Amino acid sequence: MRKPIIAGNWKLNKTIAESRELSAQLAKSLKEIDDREIIIAPVYTALATVADVIKSSPIQLAAQNCYPEKDGAFTGEVSPEFLQDAGCQYIIIGHSERRQLLNETDHFINQKLFRVLETGLKPILCIGETLQERENNRMLDVLTTQIKGGLANLTAKQMATVVIAYEPVWAIGTGKTASAEQAEDVHSFIRGLLQELFDSKVATQTRILYGGSVKPNNVDELMSQKNIDGALVGGASLNAEDFVRLVQFEN
Ligand code: PGA
Repeated sequence: MRKPIIAGNWKLNKTIAESRELSAQLAKSLKEIDDREIIIAPVYTALATVADVIKSSPIQLAAQNCYPEKDGAFTGEVSPEFLQDAGCQYIIIGHSERRQLLNETDHFINQKLFRVLETGLKPILCIGETLQERENNRMLDVLTTQIKGGLANLTAKQMATVVIAYEPVWAIGTGKTASAEQAEDVHSFIRGLLQELFDSKVATQTRILYGGSVKPNNVDELMSQKNIDGALVGGASLNAEDFVRLVQFEN
């Protein structure tokens, strides 16, 4: 009942020409897929170009971030309305790189989430613990704080289009993947928390993606876990062949 999602986060990679080429390769290889959602998140400058390339394919477009205002005197920022105008359906928010490098707080992330929903776009809320937090047995507290803060004041109804991505910081771009069992444990914990904070419908319907060194050789095992509903992929999404294989996961 939860449609799986394979999402590629291109981060700060690929020029407009390279983005056009990669998205064209994906659009060619990934036709008529309707049992899973496919999302790609290029840099801002390539969004409109990629939107045009994938318009007749099942691939959806995401932005990697947004600013929680509509328009006005916010130099250098981009709002959900403008991302919608560029062709996005999804917006990734609270990625650990932004939390760490740009000091994004749960409160700021929560404001973005509301604005994304107000615009009619779908948020992918990222959460995840650092290695130190895991080793100090603070993982569950950290994840609870991120979920409670990020989803603060949301109604069960508003949760309908929210996607959560669990990305342990120590597994991002390091080649270290959480084992399928470690990931499943955390996903099941998150689902329990959603039940507590909202209700059982939200807990059963919310898609929870895993992220952190997802590759063609581990995707099937991860996707075979009961509470893993998809993957948010960095490195392996930059290569057409790898990303196509990820979308074609078997479970
Ligand atoms: P990775 O990145 O697949 O390169 O580890 C995942 C992410 O940061 O979303």
